[in-house]
Amino acid sequence: MFKNSQIKIQPVKTQPYTDQKPGTSGLRKKVKVFQQMDYLQNFIQSIFNCLPEIQGSTLILGGDGRYYNREAIQIIIRMAAANGVAKIILGQGGIFSTPAVSHLIRKNGALGGIILSASHNPAGMDGDFGIKYNSSNGGPAPEEFTNAVYEESQDISYYKIAPIKGIPLDIPGTYTSENTEIEVIDPVNDYVELMQSLFDFDKIRALISADDFSMCFDAMHAVTGPYATRIFEEILGAAPGSVIRAECLPNFGGGHPDPNLIHAKQLVDIMFDAEETGSAPNFGAASDGDGDRNMIMGDYFFVTPSDSLAIIAANAHLIPAYKDGLKGIARSMPTSQAADRVAEKLGIPSYETPTGWKFFGNLLDDKRITLCGEESFGTGSDHVREKDGIWAVLCWLNIMAERKQSVEDIVRQHWAEYGRNYYTRHDYENIPTEAANKLFDNLQEHLGTLIGRIFNNRTVIIADNFSYHDPVDHSQTDNQGIRIIFDDGSRIIFRLSGTGTEGATLRVYIERYAKDIKEHDLDTQEALYDLIETAELVANIIGYTGRHEPSVIT
Ligand code: G1P
Ligand code: ZN
Repeated sequence: MFKNSQIKIQPVKTQPYTDQKPGTSGLRKKVKVFQQMDYLQNFIQSIFNCLPEIQGSTLILGGDGRYYNREAIQIIIRMAAANGVAKIILGQGGIFSTPAVSHLIRKNGALGGIILSASHNPAGMDGDFGIKYNSSNGGPAPEEFTNAVYEESQDISYYKIAPIKGIPLDIPGTYTSENTEIEVIDPVNDYVELMQSLFDFDKIRALISADDFSMCFDAMHAVTGPYATRIFEEILGAAPGSVIRAECLPNFGGGHPDPNLIHAKQLVDIMFDAEETGSAPNFGAASDGDGDRNMIMGDYFFVTPSDSLAIIAANAHLIPAYKDGLKGIARSMPTSQAADRVAEKLGIPSYETPTGWKFFGNLLDDKRITLCGEESFGTGSDHVREKDGIWAVLCWLNIMAERKQSVEDIVRQHWAEYGRNYYTRHDYENIPTEAANKLFDNLQEHLGTLIGRIFNNRTVIIADNFSYHDPVDHSQTDNQGIRIIFDDGSRIIFRLSGTGTEGATLRVYIERYAKDIKEHDLDTQEALYDLIETAELVANIIGYTGRHEPSVIT
């Protein structure tokens, strides 16, 4: 038991940093930036200053295990104690996945949660670190809050920190320091319980443990290692070793824990390269640094995230938690329109939001939607207020257990019924910010002149910068991406990333709808070839960036 009562807290003087503006998903910077004197402290105090209810509150605290996680946690505990937090629920070893934090906030009626993660960005001494604050509904704090935190960080002159010893992060138990109770808990238990309440574990176990079924889950040496091992191997009976790269390492094994065809190469090789021997597993999946993203694969088959959302929606009635139907579906604007077609058929509303999970929160809280997703390998439901990688994998396994079909058969039947939305995203990473801004200014300036123009037999019907009016709180969010929409429903979208830590990243999203089954067998890049050409023509990417090829294609 740690007892440090009666310690006098002396405020520590500090100077503001000008760059503490949270992006799409919290404050993300290089580790070295966070290690600057008082950098972390300033930001944490700015968060606390924006929480009038901090005294006597409960906070959930944990991270994805990346480099600097443990040090940051000890600092945050001391600051929480000095700021009057009554209770901190901390994951053992400082570990919590993002969806697990979201769940624990809701389960414990906590004021909020602090998640230490830079999601899929690489980790290690020269990698990235990040801080996200989630509110009492379990979801990422809304922009109003993150803007207030930024304002606070610009004026900060002192922070509060208790002069207490470190907490033993690795030993579950309850510790007390100052008037704060710190409960170190197993990070996986509560999450497992939640999953068991949503899915038919018996049916999934029958599928997974059958002799003719094998699966591979790539945890990418990040936070889902312990979650996936417990759920898939220990509880659901997948063969030992089905979870690869299961050990959570501070540098994520030197990799880039982003579950896509480029960065989850190990999994992709297992699912595709065994073609000659015919020994690929029946099911493959991967998650990212903090466990909120997912990639779904079949043997020799990749499921586009936008399709995954649509297919989960169309089959949700097969999953116990959603057997009574869905209230509605939301997708981020750049996500393909495949889910809209399912919503239409189900006779439920569909919503189009700006990029970033925080925009789904109001729709979920207001019970307007049950499912939501993004093209960026994020899918989720009203069970938490974050996207949830392992949940998405369990959706697929539950659906496969009911339909007794392969991943590929399920996807192809979906296309046959609804048509196929060919979809790709081209990323141009780390381009000079000035070049990116010029490209955007130019596009914006010429938007008006695009309407009515014909490119490769398609006429532009809408060319604008996407604005979102939140139907729940009536807030307005502008400049969320340039959309060029054609008369056949095809779309080209341009956005700048809000999560990068170096230069600017241009994202170009391209989509085309093919109704006829005869058109469903094309290679995605070939199917979109002429739209890719149009994107270059209208934006002059080569001219502004000097790049002839995207750095990542998903
Ligand atoms: C990216 C994705 C976005 C996702 C976010 C956090 O943001 O595009 O869909 O919500 O990461 O995982 P971006 O870098 O595009 O701003
Ligand atoms: Zn993530």
